[in-house]
Amino acid sequence: MRVYDVIEAKKNRRALTESEIRFFVQSVADGSATDSQIAAFCMATLLNGMTDEETFLLTDAMAKSGERAPRPVSAGVFADKHSTGGVSDSTTLILVPVLAALGIKCAKYSGRGLAHTGGTLDKLESFAGVRVDLSPEAFERQVNEVGAAVSGQTVSTVPADKRMYAVRDVTATVDSIPLIASSVMSKKLASFADIILLDVKYGDGAFMRAPKDAEKLARLMVSIGERAGRRMLAAVTCMDSPLGDNIGCNAEVNEVLQILRGEKENGLSRLSLFHAAKILQEAEGVSEREAEARAYEVLRSGAALKKLSEIVAAQGGCAGDVYKTLPLAKNVYEVRAPESGYVQVSALALGRACAEIGGGRAKEGDEIDHAAGIILKKRQGERAEKGEPLAEIYYNGALKEGGALAESAFRIGDKKIQERPLVYTFVGGKRS
Ligand code: URA
Repeated sequence: MRVYDVIEAKKNRRALTESEIRFFVQSVADGSATDSQIAAFCMATLLNGMTDEETFLLTDAMAKSGERAPRPVSAGVFADKHSTGGVSDSTTLILVPVLAALGIKCAKYSGRGLAHTGGTLDKLESFAGVRVDLSPEAFERQVNEVGAAVSGQTVSTVPADKRMYAVRDVTATVDSIPLIASSVMSKKLASFADIILLDVKYGDGAFMRAPKDAEKLARLMVSIGERAGRRMLAAVTCMDSPLGDNIGCNAEVNEVLQILRGEKENGLSRLSLFHAAKILQEAEGVSEREAEARAYEVLRSGAALKKLSEIVAAQGGCAGDVYKTLPLAKNVYEVRAPESGYVQVSALALGRACAEIGGGRAKEGDEIDHAAGIILKKRQGERAEKGEPLAEIYYNGALKEGGALAESAFRIGDKKIQERPLVYTFVGGKRS
């Protein structure tokens, strides 16, 4: 068999066999398939699609393409959560300590930000001294002792996805439902979580613009996970405008700390508690009402903030830093309303503006400026009077196109726009 033949079969719209898929994935993982062959395969898949059976086989082959992360020996239910990528979405940094405070273990392997979306590891590194390259042994020890750990993978668990994702990122082949489903789920199946919650974004700042497409992706990923024996939950949530009010590493961590201290309530806090309650319901079979009340209580009592400080300290940071405010960059550019009216905010444009001022990456491996960020002063649907501040842009070096991009993120209209629902639908779950 040749990689060429597999590409040609997909080009000619023939469903691939199991042996063709396994051969292709093996060739990607061992380096014998070239980047141009991977690109051709991804483009043929994007244009011609895959059956659900092909997508499952692709996911399974990718999940088995590297080393397996060992399962910590401690008893109890392990939960994991994955978002398909958003702007001002720091739910993981709230959800993980909330779950750990509820007694649900979180062994969370996370990633870095790419393009206009932020990454949990970058945000966690905003706490001075925190390490996100825990060895499997240190990771396991921390999960057992603290109840949660958040780290990047230090063993190469899904090398096939690493190569395919890098090629997709530069060949306009990210937004394919079978390729996203296999990429996300291969990483989830390579870990050991019992309960997996997926947050599938739709809207302006998401890979899937239409809620129906995001739902299709969510259902496909749930079915792949269930077929592999995992307990799956998936929320389809809106990413038209930023989830929280802050964008950029330090700024987002400050917002997380405000929420965990009980000083702020918004879409970010509501979605984080919604996810926590869904996982608790699934783990313990309690009613929706009880799950929501218990999740809210660990936030209100400060137990979740204390858990975050334990996680930060266990990973090399200073426990007391969760009671401080992290610094923002020294220069401030204000975006002001050009006229009076109702505000519309684009998550995509603000995510790009943040990347432009150094708060995000143009490509993998770029350094990021943790202090660069954006603070929204007006949210989607709010009224602004002419000249009122809409956002503050904090930057250290050059503003470059950041100012213009941030200006372009706002539209002022005569009528209040109808916001789309934060949670469009929820799928999966044996107990919900
Ligand atoms: N996140 C992933 O891990 N993979 C994708 O393909 C898209 C989002």
